[in-house]
Amino acid sequence: MSGWHHRHILDLAAFSREDYAAVLELAERFRSLPVTGARKLPALQGRLVATLFFEPSTRTRSSFELAAKRLSADVQSFSPSSSSLSKGESVLDTARTYVAMGAEVLVVRHRSTGVPQQLAEDLESAGERAVVLNGGDGLHSHPSQGLLDLHTLARHFAPQYPMPEALQGRRIVLVGDILHSRVARSNLWALTACGADVVLCGPPSLLPDAFSEFVAEPPPGQSVDPVPKRGSVRVERRLERALPGADAVMTLRLQKERMTQQLLTGLERYHRDYGLSHERLSLCGQPVPVLHPGPVNRGVEMTGALLDDPSICQVEEQVRNGVPIRMALLYLMAAAESASEAALVSISS
Ligand code: NCD
Repeated sequence: MSGWHHRHILDLAAFSREDYAAVLELAERFRSLPVTGARKLPALQGRLVATLFFEPSTRTRSSFELAAKRLSADVQSFSPSSSSLSKGESVLDTARTYVAMGAEVLVVRHRSTGVPQQLAEDLESAGERAVVLNGGDGLHSHPSQGLLDLHTLARHFAPQYPMPEALQGRRIVLVGDILHSRVARSNLWALTACGADVVLCGPPSLLPDAFSEFVAEPPPGQSVDPVPKRGSVRVERRLERALPGADAVMTLRLQKERMTQQLLTGLERYHRDYGLSHERLSLCGQPVPVLHPGPVNRGVEMTGALLDDPSICQVEEQVRNGVPIRMALLYLMAAAESASEAALVSISS
């Protein structure tokens, strides 16, 4: 953990393999500690975490708030409909208001790409110490979701030692609306960094060919990739060709609200071509876990029967795993913000 150098957490493209290991290792430690009642961890006592969600959220926001509370932080949450946004206050000014109240970590979600980054730059140039954690921006990035998915897969493949190497050489199939998914983009960075080979599967309207090159260049804003050798990425149009040999399948929500044109000819057709079912999964040739970040369109991305089968479907496990992952992120950020890990209470006891 001493090598942790990210002040803000905006995009997994900037993460090295050691960064993933640091987060997974801390999450493992947090999940095995008692975290309720009087035995809450005191690590962030007296510190204020603000969750600024300018876009709807069920899981991510509550999970961050629970994670912050389990570390004994104070939590302030913001909801756009009842705020001064409706009076025309800008996003940056809104965030500055929470900083003025003493918020040290801002978890920010916005429908537009780049808002958390812009806010981080604004705080830096104003000389503020507060740090920004991206809770999902536009189509761009959703780092905490990418990390909790990685945690879920690592725990599935190597329950005794769920570290990044558990993903090495695994074939992970991502199905569906890749184009509109910030979750898919964050997973592409995380999975390939850990040596997984990713197969992307969907129709051209939801999965342009260019996605096969997604991790080929150094990540945006960096001259060299922090990961020396990534796993491969390939595009496969037909599910019947993508599934054989898969070690895990992740399917993504059809993001109807983000579709700017009539990209789909119909949900029934989509389900027929790309919907997951018990029968379809038998093509993998072995039992595989199915992940979905939620919310799920029941009967579209997967059948109701599959969604309700916890021996395969990891949706609830992903939600559970989100809390220790977000505890790890908040802990690391608060340590970076105070520029000294000694400022935080030891969690090793
Ligand atoms: C995702 C999101 O908001 O990007 N959900 C989530 O955070 N669990 C995916 C989605 O909305 O489909």
